[in-house]
Amino acid sequence: MKEYKVAVIAGDGIGPEVLAEGVKILNKVSELSGDFKFQFTYFPWGCQYYLKNGKMMDEDGLEKLKAFDAIYLGAVGYPGVPDHISLCDLLLKIRKGFDQYVNIRPVQLLDGAPCPLKDITREQIDMLVIRENSEGEYAGAGDWLFKGKPEEVVLQTGVFSRKGTERIIRYAYEEARKTGRTLTSISKGNALIYSMVFWDQVFAEVGKEYPDVKTYSYLVDAASMFFVKDPGRFQVVVTSNLFGDILTDLGAAISGGMGLAAGANVNPERKYPSMFEPIHGSAPDIAGKGIANPLASIWSVSQMLDFFGHEDWGSKVLKAIEQVMVEKKALTPDMDGQAKTNEVGDEVVTVLSKMYKAK
Ligand code: NAD
Ligand code: IPM
Ligand code: MN
Repeated sequence: MKEYKVAVIAGDGIGPEVLAEGVKILNKVSELSGDFKFQFTYFPWGCQYYLKNGKMMDEDGLEKLKAFDAIYLGAVGYPGVPDHISLCDLLLKIRKGFDQYVNIRPVQLLDGAPCPLKDITREQIDMLVIRENSEGEYAGAGDWLFKGKPEEVVLQTGVFSRKGTERIIRYAYEEARKTGRTLTSISKGNALIYSMVFWDQVFAEVGKEYPDVKTYSYLVDAASMFFVKDPGRFQVVVTSNLFGDILTDLGAAISGGMGLAAGANVNPERKYPSMFEPIHGSAPDIAGKGIANPLASIWSVSQMLDFFGHEDWGSKVLKAIEQVMVEKKALTPDMDGQAKTNEVGDEVVTVLSKMYKAK
């Protein structure tokens, strides 16, 4: 029987709480399918690890992770450790170190998901945001000159390489072609006169190879407005690292909230493991209370199943999430329920088992 090796980095705050539920689902899926199973290896990395050991992960952490088929990550960052250290030395280190240059974030209104927008149907919020995940505004290039002096200067340079820009845009065109959907590029060429003018140029250039794909191009400020006023305009979306970060929190807000939004950090060449995570953070305001919504981390499990080629199970998990939200028997307070994190996970397991009997 095929066994997938999954590295689990639960991380900080609500990370471990929500990840436990995703692991539960994977184990259930393996039992129901009877065709494959999972072997989980837990890594204790995160802010507590940093406070004890002075580092966010082992020095040879990437080396250790290399052998896995996938990484399942909770959340990183907690008060007490500066965010620029915790995130740079763990989450971003993995994304960059493993060249996970595609960040796939579905913004899709599932059945039963709460939506703050008026008169919206499920079909009107159904996009796939493809975020550049390896460079751009997150390249980490810059300087801090004359620190603490009156003449202090800081520089944060966006890095948009030809290779990095082309490959993400090409990935998005391929996705749009494969699924017969439109492709929208979101940029800001009217103000970022090097990086985003270049981005727009590459979008047009690569587009010549995809005459069958209908394209649109929006400035990020207008796009944000349309995410709220008319999200039906967007199908496949491609955008830069920072814009993608911001737009997908907005996307989460219109399609069920932070507790439901998932993301896959993918190295398409499969030279390195890809990483699956809820897109939310460690939520210090609710950590330890057992009320974090685990559905985002469960959705990311569905993305992992897709990635392993078990799309049938990926969509079954998604269907189970939908049914749990439609039935409203066990939902956490962010979805106006009163259930605990583990009760929601248990309910997804129950629904999955009812929907699909074991072989
Ligand atoms: P956050 O996503 O942790 O929280 C924002 C708001 O959403 C909070 O009110 C929180 O309670 C709520 N929320 C988030 N996830 C939820 C869930 N599953 N169920 C119910 N409510 C949920 O963002 P933040 O407060 O800006 O960041 C907190 C920390 O997490 C910071 O250190 C930040 O850098 C880090 N962070 C990490 C990641 C990651 O690891 N992928 C992502 C975002 C932020
Ligand atoms: C996300 C997060 C990260 C990002 C942070 C924590 C570095 O917000 O995954 O959306 O900006 O990519
Ligand atoms: Mn984010």
